[in-house]
Amino acid sequence: MTMQLDNLEPHTLRDPHGYSGKWHFFPQDVLPMWVADMDFPICPAIPKAIVERLQEQVGYPPMQGDKQLLDLIIQQQGRHGLTNLASENLLLTTSVVPAIYASVLALSSPGDEVITQVPVYHPFLYALNEHHRVTRHNPLLRTPTGWEIDFDQLESLVSPRTRLLMLCNPQNPTGRVFRRDELERLAEFALRHRLWVMADELWADLIFEGPHHSMASLSPEIAQRTVTLTGPCKTYNLAGLGGGVAISHNKQILAAMAGVSRGIGGHPNVLSMAAWRAALEYGQDWLQEVRVYLQSNRDFITSFVEQHLPQVGYTPPQGTYLAWFDFSAAPFGRQAHQVILEQARVGLSDGRIFGPGLEGWLRLNFATSRNLVQEAMERIARAVQAAD
Ligand SMILES: Cc1ncc(COP(=O)(O)O)c(C=O)c1O
Repeated sequence: MTMQLDNLEPHTLRDPHGYSGKWHFFPQDVLPMWVADMDFPICPAIPKAIVERLQEQVGYPPMQGDKQLLDLIIQQQGRHGLTNLASENLLLTTSVVPAIYASVLALSSPGDEVITQVPVYHPFLYALNEHHRVTRHNPLLRTPTGWEIDFDQLESLVSPRTRLLMLCNPQNPTGRVFRRDELERLAEFALRHRLWVMADELWADLIFEGPHHSMASLSPEIAQRTVTLTGPCKTYNLAGLGGGVAISHNKQILAAMAGVSRGIGGHPNVLSMAAWRAALEYGQDWLQEVRVYLQSNRDFITSFVEQHLPQVGYTPPQGTYLAWFDFSAAPFGRQAHQVILEQARVGLSDGRIFGPGLEGWLRLNFATSRNLVQEAMERIARAVQAAD
């Protein structure tokens, strides 16, 4: 399959209807490389499946969701090593963020302590703050060989009130894909302290250096204490359609999550289920093409930073389509977000939302065509040079 990934143009990406949140957030001359949406066209099988579904049936779906979709998700998880799943081990949700919130509500109580590696996808932190849990941050360490978990600091965080470990793997925003031995250490830690584990593995099919190891696949014991979250929105570029799933071998976890979501979670959306099913069934060639393209964008950014932005801290991501930059050594340091927006006219995500002490860090979404990635990097380099 060949689709247009290269040479996308801002004037077509900024649709005339104002549909795209990404492209309509900033003024027109700003290149928006913030929220995690791809600019690429979706797999053609998806709109076809949605139209067919609309023409056939849009009544209430079966309570548990579309059986064929559940089977395809089970097969997908099998490829990540997560096996022995049946439909009753899956709880469909309207998207992944509601499942993050439901995990927090179901697996901890107000005042409980919850550990997560930071920087991290901001709704982890919002869910904890908004529901009066105490967040214990386990900062990832940036070493010459990449991002590492600080296991000594992790041990020091545990108290009798610690209930839950929230893991993001592959990691947003660093793009780190944790090795099996690291996950085994985390699993041993969680079991020893009798913690629940929420493993957000939404990005698992967008990795360049694999394989992805599912946390719950490591042992029957950790499977009993883990809920795995995923959905179609990142891999298949379907964020506006929604769709998510909580997966656990421990049905009590799912029952508790369903309990806290009752009446507010809504039923699975038939169009997002049709889209997700088509994506898993027919989207593999599309996905492979996109992954190769993303990897080449990643490699382009890596050599660009080496050549033109040596003062910027950056570790190439092993997965995701996110580049995580430390501008704190640049002349404008902590004002990086504002300066890059105002001077370079590139809209990035401000590092401060991903955890404490991240002033001067920025996240760039490189799921767009190379001409735009290059334009953004050149604009950023000019702004840094101008400030020197
Ligand atoms: C780790 C992670 N979880 C969840 C989400 C959002 O999922 P959804 O849009 O399905 O709620 C994102 C979006 O970027 C993410 O990076």
